[in-house]
Amino acid sequence: MKNRRILLASRPEGWPTHANFKLEEVPVPKPGEGQFLVRNHWLSLDPYMRGRMDAAKSYAKYVELGDVMTGGTVGEVLESRHPGFASGEFVNGALGWQEYAVTDGVGVRKVDGSRAPLSSYLGVLGMPGVTAWVGLLDIAQPKAGETVAVSAASGAVGSVVGQIARLKGCRAVGIAGGPEKCGYVTRELGFDACVDHRAGRLHEDLQAAAPKGIDVVFENVGGPVLDAELRLMNAFGRITICGLISQYNATEPYGIRNLRSVLTNRIRMQGFIVSDRMELWPRALADLGQWVADGKIKYRESVAHGLESAPQAFLGMLRGENFGKQVVKLT
Ligand SMILES: NC(=O)c1ccc[n+]([C@@H]2O[C@H](COP(=O)([O-])OP(=O)(O)OC[C@H]3O[C@@H](n4cnc5c(N)ncnc54)[C@H](OP(=O)(O)O)[C@@H]3O)[C@@H](O)[C@H]2O)c1
Repeated sequence: MKNRRILLASRPEGWPTHANFKLEEVPVPKPGEGQFLVRNHWLSLDPYMRGRMDAAKSYAKYVELGDVMTGGTVGEVLESRHPGFASGEFVNGALGWQEYAVTDGVGVRKVDGSRAPLSSYLGVLGMPGVTAWVGLLDIAQPKAGETVAVSAASGAVGSVVGQIARLKGCRAVGIAGGPEKCGYVTRELGFDACVDHRAGRLHEDLQAAAPKGIDVVFENVGGPVLDAELRLMNAFGRITICGLISQYNATEPYGIRNLRSVLTNRIRMQGFIVSDRMELWPRALADLGQWVADGKIKYRESVAHGLESAPQAFLGMLRGENFGKQVVKLT
């Protein structure tokens, strides 16, 4: 049996390309004492992976050249020498861009494919869903009647943020790329409004979508989008910096122009990383599981097929070609 895996072959300068990745075949590893072998069925592709390709100081260690790309997975235990995991069980872990992996179980959780589709444990019932819950409810703490703006609104995190905001009695304003994504955000997900950031009228459209101003920003994008939001903030607003995807491939950082709004509106702006808040994951996952089961939170996925399609799907996601959570089906 062969294991196919994708390695980081070189570091990108600016936008990554196919040349930064290498697909190779190696023998399937054998589990040692206290370990188990997993056949990955699903691979998650996430914006944070762009950061791991750079040898820069960040909140997590970067991928070394020649190492398997980091990535969340869901798969089946094939062979176990670990007392806590049995063959036939399904697990979610960070087992990387590869078809098979051996793990000691640290950071691996069991998932139940009869309760929800396996891929959803990489999205709404996994890290992106918990990110939405933590960033909105723990950090921004919106109150009923407030206006919440969220960028990358049709994506894995943003789609959940806006739906939770609605459940909490807020006005949810999305920002997304193009009329199709904006239509989905309002008609399918129930946001009150959505602004197309590609239409060239960001300030005017956002002002019309948030006629009483913005109380909470859940920022996934940064750059000109954050500047437009800053212009419309209300007094004592909160800005959660979850991600800055417009800057991940930039060779020159964008200089924010409207920072004065933070002073005059006494805004609290806070960044966060969801893995720092492990104590909140059980509560977040319980809420998300209930809301999805009740049909109160909807989600959508972009599915790429086969490990070899992962680089193309990843590069497409960075350009906004994904529509919902980007996953790769490996089986
Ligand atoms: N802090 C944490 O712990 C944490 C955890 C998970 C994710 N995140 C962050 O959350 C954000 C969303 O992640 P996700 O997994 O939900 O990805 P996603 O939204 O499903 O996919 C990325 C989306 O970003 C948008 N985008 C890309 N470049 C853009 C640009 N220049 N201007 C405006 N929009 C742009 C595109 O949507 P459009 O077509 O709508 O433009 C694209 O579809 C990312 O910034 C990510 O790094 C943070």
